[in-house]
Amino acid sequence: METRRPGGTATTPLLRGVAGGRAAIVSARRRSIGHSHRTQPAFVPTKLERKIVNGIAPPAMGVAASPSFERALQPACFASRADLRGLLPLEVRLRTVHAEGLARLLPLLLCGEESAALAFAQFAELARLDGDARAQLRRMRFEEERHEVWLTRLRLGLPAPWPDTGLRRTVRHFFLAIREPELGAHLGRIAALDSAVCVILGALRNPRCALAADVDLRQLVTRIQFEEAGHARTASFYARVFGVRDLRRLAIDTRERLVRLLALRAGAFDQVGVCPDSLSRRLLQVSRRLFA
Ligand SMILES: [Fe+2]
Ligand SMILES: [Fe+2]
Repeated sequence: METRRPGGTATTPLLRGVAGGRAAIVSARRRSIGHSHRTQPAFVPTKLERKIVNGIAPPAMGVAASPSFERALQPACFASRADLRGLLPLEVRLRTVHAEGLARLLPLLLCGEESAALAFAQFAELARLDGDARAQLRRMRFEEERHEVWLTRLRLGLPAPWPDTGLRRTVRHFFLAIREPELGAHLGRIAALDSAVCVILGALRNPRCALAADVDLRQLVTRIQFEEAGHARTASFYARVFGVRDLRRLAIDTRERLVRLLALRAGAFDQVGVCPDSLSRRLLQVSRRLFA
């Protein structure tokens, strides 16, 4: 099977049987004769990438310790290894009704980031993956933790919604239920989910959505959407390398579960100017290009 690494590099991944019957991924770059193979360096975040963590917008107010502030620094669903110490609230310039709607949607997005950061952290340690694959997974883990940091800062800048333990339990259950024992299948579901996140974020930054009025917020959503598109491509690539059968069926199942979950916050989507029905219809259309 010949395919193309996310990012455009042509590769010939090979599946190799190893002890215990598990498959190992070994990738050989297609190269001209005489061109020596160099291993990809491990992913190390650049200075800029580290700096941008607290650099979306300056906080407009002093940060005082309060119960709701402390609560916003707690994990939404899962404790990832993202460093949330010393975060400052984002300055949000929205009408109150829109800020409240966004605050009700945020736990869903944050749980997704936490769950993804944990999954990629685990995948990046798998010895059966080659160095290139592990470096890509480490990069995705770094990006997911950074999304978590950004969305936590956003959470700090928004009104605190009523705590909803029922919703938290349901969202946790959703993310635990889509974990697959087999890595390839799990990556197939992540590809379906991250591409769905792109659709949701695209709706939130659409000029028709109330959130688009805040330029910094729109920029933040655009940045996350861009990185999620990369995750969907990479997860899809490795799901195919693992030879998972019926990826499309897995993706449709994942999207159907997601749509049922989002229906619990249909009112909040309405509140920010996103039609929940048309969003659901778009999410249920899984593009054939996702696993092409
Ligand atoms: Fe993310
Ligand atoms: Fe992601």
